[in-house]
Amino acid sequence: MTVRFDLAGKLVIVTGASSGLGRAIALRLAMDEGADVIVAARRREKLAEIAREIRERSGRNAYPVAVDLATPDGPDALFLAARRLVAERRRAERAHAVTSPESGVFGLVNNAGITHYGETVGMDRGAIDSVLQINLSAAMHLSRLFLPLFVARDRGAILNITSLGAVLPVPYQAAYAASKHGLRAFTESLAAEVRGTGVVISSFGPGGIATEMIGSSGLGGRVGPGSVLLADPAVIAGKAIRHWKRGLVSGTTGLSPRIVSAAARLPVGWLIRRIAARLYKPQAPHLRQTPWDQSFAGDECLFGTEPTDWLRTAAAQIPTGRALCIGDGEGRTSVYLAQLGHDVSVADLTSYRFGSSRWDLIVSAFVHMSPSLRIDVHARMVEAIVPGGYLIHESFAPDQLNYRTGGPTRPEMLPGLERLKTEFAGLDFETALEVVRHIADGPSARGPGGCRKSAVVQIMARKPRPGLAPQPADRYSCRS
Ligand SMILES: NC(=O)c1ccc[n+]([C@@H]2O[C@H](COP(=O)([O-])OP(=O)(O)OC[C@H]3O[C@@H](n4cnc5c(N)ncnc54)[C@H](OP(=O)(O)O)[C@@H]3O)[C@@H](O)[C@H]2O)c1
Repeated sequence: MTVRFDLAGKLVIVTGASSGLGRAIALRLAMDEGADVIVAARRREKLAEIAREIRERSGRNAYPVAVDLATPDGPDALFLAARRLVAERRRAERAHAVTSPESGVFGLVNNAGITHYGETVGMDRGAIDSVLQINLSAAMHLSRLFLPLFVARDRGAILNITSLGAVLPVPYQAAYAASKHGLRAFTESLAAEVRGTGVVISSFGPGGIATEMIGSSGLGGRVGPGSVLLADPAVIAGKAIRHWKRGLVSGTTGLSPRIVSAAARLPVGWLIRRIAARLYKPQAPHLRQTPWDQSFAGDECLFGTEPTDWLRTAAAQIPTGRALCIGDGEGRTSVYLAQLGHDVSVADLTSYRFGSSRWDLIVSAFVHMSPSLRIDVHARMVEAIVPGGYLIHESFAPDQLNYRTGGPTRPEMLPGLERLKTEFAGLDFETALEVVRHIADGPSARGPGGCRKSAVVQIMARKPRPGLAPQPADRYSCRS
């Protein structure tokens, strides 16, 4: 095998190293190649465990860096953390009067990845954004950040982990296939740009691997553990590293990507696509279990049958009319509003058309969405309220992360009052509060007396009637 570079003593970053293929690549880099590794992902404890395992099994250095590559700042945060580590390594070397040409980052393995499995019809905007951000944008931005250092030194190497889905269409994982096709195209373009330098740019696209991704995406129902279609991560890691060291631009498990993608375009290509569609076709909806299905599977209503006290207080001030409840889980708010005399509809957020100037009241109670979906839904809600109609909204506030009594754990799913006022622009705010309060709702309630101390945002707002003077700005109060 002709080798373009060796990795002994070099420092390599592996993203998505807290599990699966990334973990296996990091282990192999240290144990087989003698490299030091920066292991990056979100789960701190897993990273600490893996870094310890690498040190113990290989005697090499391993540095955990917790980073969320789904955020636009994630790649910069990882870049800065790596630069800080390199500075520390250099300081330590100087303290021992040694200098090593290998203390800087030599290699970057863009491995972190997620998939979204299911019908693309009705796919949430946030899901598409996350797949593209983690699988494609983060890899491109990390490459953009490290490449100048590599080019300046005329040495360095990037390995992008793609997939067979980078050369084949993948029905029911369309966003994933798009992200991986994009990453392969990025790799091949970049490789052409640095040709003739000492920098190596490669991508490697495995077929199915037995990792967490298969279970967490729901694909486990189609290709279960132990399936002959799933390879051992350690084996794939070895193949990926060998491919990278040879300086090959793109490769897939066993087959040249050119052969695979050409085959997909041949007259037999339809057969490959049909087989993939058959293999991945999701089960009938009644057999599918989302995390929400599992949470709501019990006999009792998870959040009880009564609306929240804030909803009661706010709804008492509003005349009855056509009311729309969004994301009303087991229907406690809708039922209550119907009892008050409203004509109530409930909405599925991904596909529902709210209409324009259609509802006298829209209620959103603890409906937490990804930012892109939320901004879209909130704009559509404002549009859908009739002039003079009302919005009642309550959701967990950013501070809820400190209470841990329910709600999302990702900060971007917890907008504060100011953010929400921007998203509901066009309404006059009659109440707008960010408060800490006790919520008592159903069997899921925790804490003394079954109450959950929680940080929430409460909004009651009204759409102005045309021709009426704008409401004074001090009509709402805000405290925290
Ligand atoms: N499994 C397969 O069949 C298969 C086939 C072909 C290609 N691949 C590719 O192999 C790569 C690794 O996947 P895997 O199969 O090993 O799956 P995995 O076990 O689920 O690993 C995914 C890794 O990505 C990290 N990650 C996910 N979201 C992240 C975020 N927002 N920020 C930072 N890190 C994040 C995860 O760590 P945290 O959760 O700790 O953040 C985890 O370490 C992916 O690029 C995938 O597309 C997998």
